[in-house]
Amino acid sequence: MQPDHRPYAPAAEQNREPILQVLQQWFTDPGTLLEVGAGTGQHAAFMAPRMPHLQWLPTDVAEHLPGIEAWRREAAAPNLRPPRALDVQADAWPEGPFRYVYSANTVHILHWPGVEALFAGVARVLESGGRFALYGPFAHDGQHTADSNASFDRSLRQQDPGMGVRDRADLDALAAAHGLSREAVVDMPVNNQILIWRCAPDPGSV
Ligand SMILES: C[S@@+](CC[C@H](N)C(=O)[O-])C[C@H]1O[C@@H](n2cnc3c(N)ncnc32)[C@H](O)[C@@H]1O
Repeated sequence: MQPDHRPYAPAAEQNREPILQVLQQWFTDPGTLLEVGAGTGQHAAFMAPRMPHLQWLPTDVAEHLPGIEAWRREAAAPNLRPPRALDVQADAWPEGPFRYVYSANTVHILHWPGVEALFAGVARVLESGGRFALYGPFAHDGQHTADSNASFDRSLRQQDPGMGVRDRADLDALAAAHGLSREAVVDMPVNNQILIWRCAPDPGSV
């Protein structure tokens, strides 16, 4: 917690700059970005002012909205919209289309039906040619990419057997079932990655 009662996650402060660098490389078109599972709101407050070509809409389950709003007020960025409630399994998704969707550290928290709902929702709201960037720890072909990710996975599953580090192949299969094709896997600090999928462009467009 910040002295002014904004919620604070140390990890979000540590990973925000490397994530921003990747988003600045892949999210270059002007348009609207939907953030799913914005958490404390630190990423939105840091990134929106540094990506002024985007209108940034942070969302999370309702209990997180006051904290995200506190960070938004502090950032005072004209392109950072007021947060909106979005439980990916329970709520109506905001009206798209969105050029981009960004989500960090959500798919190991969501149970698998929630992950399915996330990809179905992303595919519904993304405009053609739009991109979805997902940050977090991921396994590859059934293997954890680091001991730290294996122990993180074990601790998640001990807390709740429905949570856990997801395998890239499972996410790619889910994405493909919704018409999203993977464009990139970007290695990030501390054994995390950003996975990027693209919604097929309209025939005839770039
Ligand atoms: C580990 S936190 C990550 C927060 C932030 N993105 C970050 O990286 O610091 C996981 C987030 O997923 C959100 N979440 C959990 N279940 C959700 C659901 N069904 N729909 C939308 N968000 C959900 C939580 O409220 C929480 O903010």
